Amino acid sequence: MKERILVTGGTGYIGSHTVVELQNAGYEVVIVDNLSNSNADVVDNIEQVSGIRPAFEKLDCLDMAGLDAVFAKYQGIKAIIHFAASKAVGESVQKPLLYYRNNLGSLINLLELMPKHGVEGIVFSSSCTVYGQPDQLPVTEEAPIKKAESPYGNTKQINEEIIRDDVASGAPIQAILLRYFNPIGAHPSALLGELPNGVPQNLVPYLTQTAIGIREKLSVFGDDYNTPDGSCIRDFINVVDLAKAHVVAIGRMLEGKQAEKVEVFNIGTGRGVSVLELIHGFEKATGVKLNYQIVGRRAGDIEQVWANPERANKVLGWKAETSLEDTLRSAWNWQLKLRERGIQ
Ligand code: UD1
Repeated sequence: MKERILVTGGTGYIGSHTVVELQNAGYEVVIVDNLSNSNADVVDNIEQVSGIRPAFEKLDCLDMAGLDAVFAKYQGIKAIIHFAASKAVGESVQKPLLYYRNNLGSLINLLELMPKHGVEGIVFSSSCTVYGQPDQLPVTEEAPIKKAESPYGNTKQINEEIIRDDVASGAPIQAILLRYFNPIGAHPSALLGELPNGVPQNLVPYLTQTAIGIREKLSVFGDDYNTPDGSCIRDFINVVDLAKAHVVAIGRMLEGKQAEKVEVFNIGTGRGVSVLELIHGFEKATGVKLNYQIVGRRAGDIEQVWANPERANKVLGWKAETSLEDTLRSAWNWQLKLRERGIQ
């Protein structure tokens, strides 16, 4: 058995897939999650998929004493992967203080507790949102950070800065910031996937819910962008591939291979795909016809962004592997499985 890793937000969408990959790679996982946007059943599904039941503590990362007790209970936690955060862009505009308190406070608590408990490093869930609309595509890690479009995006930027400042002050920790592009899809077992609360805000959950008849029509937000087909372009990254990036980041960190105490990597495929291409790709991959309409632009949307993932490819030895077709099929199988289970 390899080192013990704390995964905050480990029952969430990306967190649950990462727990499975960590366990597959031999790490021992402790999950902390307040279940604000997930369900305790996910722990059963993680066990079913990986054959190992991770330790699970229902806890809010704002609860400093509770977190302290978790580190004391599970001695020897070597690293943290910090997913736990509020992530709805629109909600963050309505409730900025909730987002700042939750997303910043949780990270600060973890950073404060790390030295006390001998935790060596933290992998932080960041986002390509920090680049805004980049001047050059594909976007590299050197691209300037643009003013955030939402309090949510701002929490990602500020948290990156908090980590950098903490390390610069001499805190005995290392960090890896992973800037995700657009994670989509589900585990091939269809036992893990994205389970949105209420009406989905993100494209693929809305698309699969439309395909299965929960939603009447998918709205495509704008076809008058300066792109080949007029719809926005994103870098859609398979969630299992994304999960594996965390495993290699943890390995690099704990094997003392980091060249700098804070490293940052783009985690994307390197390929830009438009919203309309994605819709047609889904129809082709699944044989399901999608009811969609073109509507006006959504406020705050970036026209086009995709990753230059070369640094992750070379330095981490990580590469997105799964085809878009397989990824879209996995999202559909997950939606079918939810219906079978009577969930959605
Ligand atoms: C959004 C956030 C981003 C966050 C990410 C993860 C913004 C500006 N960005 O990314 O910061 O990290 O979610 O949750 O909100 N679309 C439709 N119809 C829909 C839904 C989406 O056409 O019903 C389009 C959008 O206009 C966009 C693309 O699909 O062009 C992707 O949208 P979405 O899945 O919401 O992700 P982002 O907006 O890229």
